[in-house]
This record gives sequence, C-alpha cells and structure tokens, in this order.
Amino acid sequence: MNFWSKFSKGFTCLAPMEGVTDIAFRQVVAKAARPDIFFTEFTNVNSYSSEKGRPNALERLKYEPSEQPIVAQIWGKNPEMFAETVAAVRDLGFQAVDINMGCPDRHVVATGGGSGLIRTPELAVEILRAAQQVKGITVSVKTRLGYTRTDEWKPWLSTLLGEHPAALTIHLRTKKEMSKVDAHYDFVPEIVALKNELSPETKLIINGDIKSATEAQKFINQGADGIMIGRGVFQNPFCFEREPKEHSREELLDLMRYHLDLYEKYDLHPYDPLKHFYKIYINNFPGASDLRAELMQTKTIAEARAIIDKL
Ligand SMILES: Cc1cc2nc3c(=O)[nH]c(=O)nc-3n(C[C@H](O)[C@H](O)[C@H](O)COP(=O)(O)O)c2cc1C
Repeated sequence: MNFWSKFSKGFTCLAPMEGVTDIAFRQVVAKAARPDIFFTEFTNVNSYSSEKGRPNALERLKYEPSEQPIVAQIWGKNPEMFAETVAAVRDLGFQAVDINMGCPDRHVVATGGGSGLIRTPELAVEILRAAQQVKGITVSVKTRLGYTRTDEWKPWLSTLLGEHPAALTIHLRTKKEMSKVDAHYDFVPEIVALKNELSPETKLIINGDIKSATEAQKFINQGADGIMIGRGVFQNPFCFEREPKEHSREELLDLMRYHLDLYEKYDLHPYDPLKHFYKIYINNFPGASDLRAELMQTKTIAEARAIIDKL
C-alpha cells in the first residue's frame, strides 16, 4: 500500500523542522488546525545505527498513534545505514519515511548528507534504492532546486524522479540561497511537466514561504499534488484551517497551556528552548510584547504557567 495514494489533491503537510516539530508541538498544531500529514524532525541514520546513538534516535522518532498519518524523516549518507534505519522506522509503526536531501546546515552538509547529496547524485540514488528495497514502507524525498544555482533543478530532479520516489517535496530554493530569497514559484509548471514525463505516479509537494492551507489551490491548479508549510505555523498556528477564522487571545493562551503540559508530559528538553515558541501564542493582542518580555525571564514551566493564568 502506497502511503501517499490515500490523499486527494490539495493535501497539506506540516514541514519537518529540527528543534520545532517534536511530539509536543505536532500535537499543538493538531489541536489548532490539523494538517493532513505530519513529518517528524529529521533523525540521523548514523545515530540509529550506533549503539550509543540509538536511544536518542528512538526518542526523536516517538509519536502518538493519534498523530497518524505521520512520516519519519531521516538523513545521512551511508546506504546500508539507511536500509537499517528505514526497517526500524517501519517496525516503529511508520507507514512512510522521507529522506532529507535539502538541509543546508553546514554541519550536515560537511558530512555529505542533506543538500550535500545534491552534489553526489550517484550516492543519492544509491541511498534511495537502499531505502526502497525495504518492504512494507513508502519512501519519499525532500530536496531543493539545486546546490548553488537554480538551473541545477532539471538534472537533479530528473535523477531523483528516475528512481520513482512515492513523493517528492521541493523547497523552491537552492542550498546557497538558504531561506534568504523568495521561493521560486515560477519553476512549478516546469517541475510538474518533468514529473509527469518521468514519474507521473510521484506526488509532488510544493514548499517554501506558503503561509496557509488556502494557498494550496494555486499550486494544485498548476498540477502539484500537495503543499507543505514550515515557518508559516510560527505566524499563525491555525494556518492549516481550510476556512480561516479569527482567533481570540484565550484560544492562543489555551494552545500555550497545552504546549506547556505536553512539554512536561514528555519530559522533552531543557526549559529555555521552549521559550522560543512563546511568540507564537503571545502575539497580536494589546500588551503582548510586555507579556513576552516577562515570559522570557521565566526559568520554569510553572513560572510561565502562573503568568498566563493571572491574565
Ligand atoms: C527551524 C527549522 C528547522 C528545520 N529542520 C528541517 C528538518 O529537520 N528537515 C527538513 O527537511 N527541513 C527542515 N527545515 C526546512 C523546512 O522543512 C522547510 O523546507 C523550510 O522552512 C521552507 O519552508 P517554509 O518557508 O514553509 O518555512 C527546517 C526549517 C526551520 C526553519
């Protein structure tokens, strides 16, 4: 069963975001307005394949059954380790796995993984084949237009589509561009045509600067299958609503309370990284910036909860 075949055109995905889309935040997004598909943060295949790294890898791959349909994203550069990790991910109950071939982080690229694979297409193919030979799980790829130049898109995406991944997410920028320029939407029709020629069965997911689910139709009209939203969820946690509504301060505070509860429940990280999320909830109402400043001084979840409960 191909995981991606059950979604009709116009489906929405929450982007994989390291340090953001963990088990707690995914459930917050589900409560606000659920996307059709979740992705985990990426997990390194080297971690899973080493005895020392495995507990951490398994921690990152934790999810609740209520989060299905959810895709596990993995990265690395060693095909055997990919095969081993894909089998493990399947055994954890995931029906789909996504291979990261787009991360521009210099530590990731230095290992040859992430967008480093754009420069070693033979290895990218080897990895994809190693993952695809694992039975019982559907394999997709997430990548960028190219490494340095946008005109790399055609040979690079042709290489990937030649392997018929079940889905291909394209973040419409190069590795070099990071997220510093606008996403190159003008490439969508040509990418759709290439996909239809080389691998019509592959689902094409458009990513980059999309702010809400209501934008999906524009890309579907151009022949794409789905959209993926990343940073848009920071500006509006309700961005997956098909019919956007106004949301009250109390609804935002309720989401924040829910996030605090889940962070405690899963005993996730040290407290400070959680503060990065507060701007999502403490936003767009009178007094929000003073309140955010006050929350930035807190040292525990209990202190933060006491401040918002006083409101
Ligand atoms: C904080 C952060 C962490 C990210 N981590 C990942 C990751 O683990 N895997 C991945 O494929 N992309 C990752 N990305 C890239 C996003 O998935 C997405 O491709 C990118 O943000 C562009 O989409 P957007 O404009 O909707 O945010 C990350 C982006 C951000 C901002």
